[in-house]
Amino acid sequence: MSSAETPASGPDLTLGVRAADLADGAMVSGHVGNDPVLLARSGGEFFAISATCTHYNGPLAEGVIAGDTVRCPWHHACFSLRTGEALRPPALSPVACWAVELTDGKVIVRGRKKATPERRGPREATGAAPDRIVIIGGGAAGFGAAEMLRREGFGGGIVMLSDDAAAPVDRPNLSKDYLAGNAPEDWVPLRPAEFYADQGIELHLNARAVKIDPRSRAVTLADARTFAFDRLLLATGAEPNRLTFPGSQLPHVLTLRTLADCRAIIERAKSARRAVVVGASFIGLEVAAALRARSIQVDVVAPEARPMVRILGPQLGDFVRALHQEHGVTFHLEDTLTAIDGGRAVLKSGGTLDADLVVLGVGVRARTQLAEAAGLALDRGVLVDSELRTSAPDVFAAGDIARWPDPHTGERIRVEHWVVALRQGQTAARNMLGYREPFDAVPFFWSQHYDVPINYVGHAERWDRIDVDGDIGARDCVVRYVRGGRTLAVASIYRDVDSLKAELALEREAAPA
Ligand SMILES: Cc1cc2nc3c(=O)[nH]c(=O)nc-3n(C[C@H](O)[C@H](O)[C@H](O)COP(=O)(O)OP(=O)(O)OC[C@H]3O[C@@H](n4cnc5c(N)ncnc54)[C@H](O)[C@@H]3O)c2cc1C
Ligand code: FES
Repeated sequence: MSSAETPASGPDLTLGVRAADLADGAMVSGHVGNDPVLLARSGGEFFAISATCTHYNGPLAEGVIAGDTVRCPWHHACFSLRTGEALRPPALSPVACWAVELTDGKVIVRGRKKATPERRGPREATGAAPDRIVIIGGGAAGFGAAEMLRREGFGGGIVMLSDDAAAPVDRPNLSKDYLAGNAPEDWVPLRPAEFYADQGIELHLNARAVKIDPRSRAVTLADARTFAFDRLLLATGAEPNRLTFPGSQLPHVLTLRTLADCRAIIERAKSARRAVVVGASFIGLEVAAALRARSIQVDVVAPEARPMVRILGPQLGDFVRALHQEHGVTFHLEDTLTAIDGGRAVLKSGGTLDADLVVLGVGVRARTQLAEAAGLALDRGVLVDSELRTSAPDVFAAGDIARWPDPHTGERIRVEHWVVALRQGQTAARNMLGYREPFDAVPFFWSQHYDVPINYVGHAERWDRIDVDGDIGARDCVVRYVRGGRTLAVASIYRDVDSLKAELALEREAAPA
């Protein structure tokens, strides 16, 4: 994603700030010349880094300091205050660092420091170092892994196989700004095309793996090419469910996963006046919001009584429905489509809806076929241990396909979140190099509807109580999902600091044994 220039504001930090005015854990946003710079105090030390997150330009000064890191308020990326490194996705690029001097009780920010990559200290790598790592998947987890392998200094071969025609993209954007027509296509690639050659990552697009053999350690493609590996990462993600009813295969009935899918919806949207979105899930409703931004009339048809109720509960479900209704979306809940007859969608309840475009947002299924055929252990996903290793010792799995033992809930969980997939890719990369790092990040996702972002930390499949702090209707709330007296997850709207604090609290707590 490209970054827009943020005008520099706040104090000129080269003139200094009184040290006594900056409490431990506090930050001030100012500038050095035209550069927005964040001055932070942590544990008696002072740090100055770029004030803008490298993900979507979030204001880091509105985030939270944790040790010698700062967390972004918008989507919880984490940067080192010492080196500027993006320690946790969704940010992948570092922020710049400035030298800081304490003189006569004043903290003065001096020149920009040369980038120094973080050295991760004496972690013990075990086993023989791999020469060649193959990654199946060019999505979040696959990209996170490949990028981290090089960041860790891995000098061996990296092969990335993807059956997509596009190099890794910022998938969340495909149902938000890009689909709405508010972002140019050059925001969509995670990295420019030359990145892969520059980093020595052998990226094969339109390359579908049809077989993996964990014993002989080889991957076979549909075109019969084979790739040998020392370590393999399966990061094959998920694919949209398609409903089968008369007319469901018509050319104006589309799903959304890839850049090509998104381009196809945009193409249809150019001439469409009315659209039907099937499914009131995150993706379905984000698509509805994006199509409203294109002034298309939208009907949402879904079997549930309230949108997103299974994940967010009734209070937020009602809010989301009202929000979309305010923007002109018409809901047909507790209903389904039984047929599409040309430009008319037929409802089970009897009526019909005009539709020049139908988007199916009816969930996804994990792409586990390769793992299954190879005899890897499965349980509604590919089973992995805490280090993301599958039942075959040299084969790891990450992202939407992986079911891992979550230390926070004490359960094996599988989630479909962008940030989790990137972070799992990174952990898998380090473990493929022989480190023994458990994946213990607290799950996080966000969803955007018009100007309302919903952030969610933790994981709650069931709860016995929902506590609402604040006013959901006023878009100022923290919603806690509590089971057995423990807060398992926290959703929030415009309460970014509370969301970050909830993440820190969840990190400190492990599930009771
Ligand atoms: C439109 C959209 C918007 C989203 N928005 C959000 C959001 O706002 N917040 C959020 O948290 N999450 C969001 N998500 C979910 C998030 O994008 C996924 O959880 C994430 O992409 C999962 O990453 P992954 O690497 O596991 O899978 P993917 O990103 O799907 O990547 C899988 C890759 O594997 C490749 N592949 C699969 N099988 C094979 C094979 N046999 N051979 C070769 N290649 C293969 C695919 O081509 C693809 O490149 C969104 C998803 C979509 C579709
Ligand atoms: S803008 Fe900082 S994490 Fe997204």
